Amino acid sequence: MFLVYVVEKFKYRGEVSSIGGRYLYFSVFEKKCREDLFDRDDELQAVLNALDRGDRFIVIKGVRRIGKSSLLNVALSESKLPYIKVDGRRLYSEFGYITRDVFYRVLESELNRLVGFRKSLLRYLGSVKGISVLGSGVVFEPSKREPYVFEILDQLNEWAGRIGEKLILAFDEAHYFRFSVIRLQELIASSLDRHEYLYFILTGSEVGLFEEFLGFKDYESPLYGRYRVEIYLDRFTLEVSRRFLIEGFSQYNLNVSEEFIDKIIEVFDGLVGWLSYFGYWYATQGSIVKDLDIVFKKFLEEASGVVLNEISHLLKYSPRYRFILKAIARGYTRWSEIYRFLLLNGVKIGRPRYNVLLKKLLDYSYIKKKDDSYIMADPVIKYVAENKL
Ligand SMILES: Nc1ncnc2c1ncn2[C@@H]1O[C@H](COP(=O)(O)OP(=O)(O)OP(=O)(O)O)[C@@H](O)[C@H]1O
Ligand SMILES: [Mg+2]
Repeated sequence: MFLVYVVEKFKYRGEVSSIGGRYLYFSVFEKKCREDLFDRDDELQAVLNALDRGDRFIVIKGVRRIGKSSLLNVALSESKLPYIKVDGRRLYSEFGYITRDVFYRVLESELNRLVGFRKSLLRYLGSVKGISVLGSGVVFEPSKREPYVFEILDQLNEWAGRIGEKLILAFDEAHYFRFSVIRLQELIASSLDRHEYLYFILTGSEVGLFEEFLGFKDYESPLYGRYRVEIYLDRFTLEVSRRFLIEGFSQYNLNVSEEFIDKIIEVFDGLVGWLSYFGYWYATQGSIVKDLDIVFKKFLEEASGVVLNEISHLLKYSPRYRFILKAIARGYTRWSEIYRFLLLNGVKIGRPRYNVLLKKLLDYSYIKKKDDSYIMADPVIKYVAENKL
């Protein structure tokens, strides 16, 4: 049993709160305030309503660069509730694995941030073995005794209950915890059973992997069949993309032609991350180039660096991914066409293995399937696959 909000239709509502530099839609960082977040009213409301109703498990899904972290940040800030936020991808990037030490370090710093404005929490945390109170903060002392995460959760729940507040534990890119000694799914499952004041919000891209990690449909998963509110972030529609670009450029006092806006919409396919990155790049350096084709070429070259770095990990697993992506980017969309492309390029691969790799690319959200066709899910990755792999 669960609620699914699939919000596909975005309607433009309202004005930009401030024009002239204060709120910038084209900033390349995750958004944190409501004023910075364009549209997404329905999704934001869905998160806030769930928290209000007492739904303690919220999942935000969507492909890369679609605005999950931004929505999460804004929801946390709009909810006005105390929270702890952990970014799975950042933790993972340190060692290619989420060690207990790395997790403790982030948790300690998040708890101290919280203690900074909720002093009453200090006493509760101080009672956890392996955590000491030092001055006005806490220190984890694993050399004395490793603090158990569930003991920390017990205390957080107790504290939240005492002050009568909901406490949010947010895990951005939670599925990176599949590479960890911390068994996040088990922790969440037992906390949902025991801790009525703790609320969980998880985000995840690479949608297939995230779903596998959550295991809602897997009998053996601790989260099997759990009640949750799922919020799916979709691409901006043409109309929302258009508004976003027009308002974003106007914040930079840039007049751009309709033809230019149309072209940007066509190239970036509603992915807000690329729309804002492109907008920022154009407003700050691209606008000196007058030839539109060259503008896009220059940007795609620049953005390729970001993507190449991301997919280098994938290519390390199997160099054959390279040929599959190349084939799809070049317009071979059918299962058999792509397979033939591989064979013609000297890639020795049997059908079962080929199927596994295709599925992985779908799980990682590098490609998507429409009817019987495979297509690239991200325009910049498409450019890279076509020109750089
Ligand atoms: N609704 C929005 N309005 C304005 N800018 C946005 C919006 N959503 C996202 N952005 C911008 O798009 C970029 C990507 O957003 P964000 O990092 O939140 O996405 P994400 O889905 O978490 O990406 P990733 O999968 O890489 O973690 C950021 O530069 C952010 O500022
Ligand atoms: Mg993110």
